[in-house]
Amino acid sequence: MKGRPLIPFAIIALLGVVLMVALSAVGNHMRNIAEEGGEGAQEEVVIDDPIEYGETVVSESCIACHANDLSGTGNAPAINNLEGRLSHEEIVEIVTNGLDGGMPAFGGQLQENEIEAVAEYLLDASQ
Ligand code: HEC
Repeated sequence: MKGRPLIPFAIIALLGVVLMVALSAVGNHMRNIAEEGGEGAQEEVVIDDPIEYGETVVSESCIACHANDLSGTGNAPAINNLEGRLSHEEIVEIVTNGLDGGMPAFGGQLQENEIEAVAEYLLDASQ
């Protein structure tokens, strides 16, 4: 029986291949998790200049309701006069969670530091 001893080797070789495929699948999976930063996590936005960044966010997300010059339209009040009326924390709270009267919550689409930047910009731009 000359060919027989080859069979265990063939099995071991096959197991080796299966193991390699399995390990590389696990490796890929781990890398995907690492790249995504885990479930639901977003890449943190790096903000150099909060006031400039806040202005960009406001011009993209807020002027539809609060007007180009932030003086308000319809139900949406002016937000160019917040200094002395609302604190930084209050603005962050309103933008994050919204208000019942039609102010949408931005907590799901803007990160905390982006909302901080918006508050900083609005207070800076206050007249
Ligand atoms: C869909 C329209 C809409 C959009 C978009 C919107 N707002 Fe508003 N916002 C409102 C309305 C309406 C109110 C008044 C709600 C109330 O008083 O209950 C309001 C109220 C506010 C207030 C409170 C003002 C005050 O005097 O009490 C702030 C601050 C504010 N918005 C900031 C923002 C910022 C910053 C953005 C963009 C990130 C934004 N809003 C986007 C409609 C909008």
